[in-house]
Amino acid sequence: MPACSDTSQILEQDPPELIVPAIGAWPQFSPPLRIGVMASGSGSNLEALYKATSEGCLEASLQLLIVNNPRCGARERAERLQIPCQLIDHRQHSTRESLDHALVSAFRAADVEAVVMAGWMRIVTPVLIDAYAGRLINLHPSLLPAFKGLDAVGQALATGVRIAGCSVHHVQADVDSGAVIAQAAVPVLASDDAATLARRIQRQEHRLLPWATALAGVEWRRKGQAFVQG
Ligand code: GRF
Repeated sequence: MPACSDTSQILEQDPPELIVPAIGAWPQFSPPLRIGVMASGSGSNLEALYKATSEGCLEASLQLLIVNNPRCGARERAERLQIPCQLIDHRQHSTRESLDHALVSAFRAADVEAVVMAGWMRIVTPVLIDAYAGRLINLHPSLLPAFKGLDAVGQALATGVRIAGCSVHHVQADVDSGAVIAQAAVPVLASDDAATLARRIQRQEHRLLPWATALAGVEWRRKGQAFVQG
């Protein structure tokens, strides 16, 4: 076999970033965006948001993190990074609506103007969606509209797609179906399992989420006068 004829071997050794958004000049926000974050998992995307703010790229203050799981990594990261954090345990709420009322109250008390769902593993209801209409965005590990819902990475592997990725989108009542704000794509390699593909997607999530938050922020501020907490 001639050298280099097996391109999959080249990809295995050096997985290329396939398609990523060109991150241009970051928009400026004066005063900085006042962001609330919701997380259930390890919190690596929370930390990516924090890093983008502390490096001065994303002009935002992380007003409040809400977690629904007392032992999640996001809570530990918030403590280390000194991000205000509140536990609202879904097990203490008998309905999704009751949980969302508690979220809205906490975000309002923290003077949050827009909310980023960074790995929130609960379905949200119109109670939250309407309180932050047009100001609630979510991160999902697929190129939407493909592979909505749970285990998007597993769905991508099972389907045999050769390109996977992540999306940041507006939240509406149908899960993972609001308008897309930004996406990044990565290759799926023949050797991938769920862990290796998820890691490759997550590297892009960490770039994409702060950038998409800034893009959405331009819209939030354009509509700023229309947003009155109530
Ligand atoms: C991310 O991969 C996101 O796409 C999914 O949940 C994961 C959260 O990861 N919705 P982390 O908690 O930010 O590390």
